Amino acid sequence: MLLLTALLVLLGVYVLCRWLVPQLVQSNATLALLWYDFLLETALDFITRTSRPQRLLQAVCINAVRGNPDSVIAAIDHFCQNQEWAMNVGDEKGAILDSVVMETSPSTVLELGTYCGYSAVRIMRLLPPATRFITLEMNPDYAAVARQVIQHAGLQDKVCLVEGKSADLIPKMADMFGIRTFDFVFFDHWKDCYLPDIRLLEDCGLLDQGSVVLADNVLCPGAPEYLDYVRSSLRFSSRFYRSHLEYTRVLDGLERSEYLGHRDAQRDQ
Ligand SMILES: C[S@@+](CC[C@H](N)C(=O)[O-])C[C@H]1O[C@@H](n2cnc3c(N)ncnc32)[C@H](O)[C@@H]1O
Repeated sequence: MLLLTALLVLLGVYVLCRWLVPQLVQSNATLALLWYDFLLETALDFITRTSRPQRLLQAVCINAVRGNPDSVIAAIDHFCQNQEWAMNVGDEKGAILDSVVMETSPSTVLELGTYCGYSAVRIMRLLPPATRFITLEMNPDYAAVARQVIQHAGLQDKVCLVEGKSADLIPKMADMFGIRTFDFVFFDHWKDCYLPDIRLLEDCGLLDQGSVVLADNVLCPGAPEYLDYVRSSLRFSSRFYRSHLEYTRVLDGLERSEYLGHRDAQRDQ
């Protein structure tokens, strides 16, 4: 009897966590982030004694074909849709990212926020080997997983992953890599870094006329000060792409901001 009760309780908890709560939080930004990004992750980390990036890597190793970036992306999307949410740009916004990358056709790319390497693989699978691609990640555990994901995709020679904080590394880009300007920059790190970092990129002269900065999650979790800045600045021409928070129905989007060059005559800041 006790065993049966315990089994029923376990079954109830499983149904609750697997279907009911995900349905309830699907369209609410605060609840979705609280559930997926905090409660569920903390609980699964505790139960499995592994981290979410490690579980994601395991799914890649089991389900993705070595040397095939598309299958790595598909394996991660499948894992996040069916097993566990993760903060990759995801499939829906990923398609917008793909189209902006292809229309920009960059030869130098900077990504801020690597996490497990999903967007790095997504971007670099579209670009020729000669493209300079640098991605920055401040969490060494995430960086270690990302290296293995990128290696599984066969892109290790095309992607340069640097560990450290964007604020420390952006001013060193020219010295470390001899890169004068970036044609394409993907902002996908902590949202309160967006505004200081776009200013830093400008101050360091790393944006050229025609450089494109694409910022993820501008609505959820949101980067309102950044949006105000790029939308009101005469140095940028900005456009919003409406979408949803990765793997949910919560409203989110990407902001594409093209640098128009420094406008002394139209000083606006
Ligand atoms: C949303 S995740 C990136 C997702 C990744 N771009 C993708 O789509 O696969 C944000 C990542 O940025 C990293 N991060 C946050 N602030 C950072 C900073 N200032 N410098 C470097 N990395 C940062 C976090 O550790 C985290 O791994």
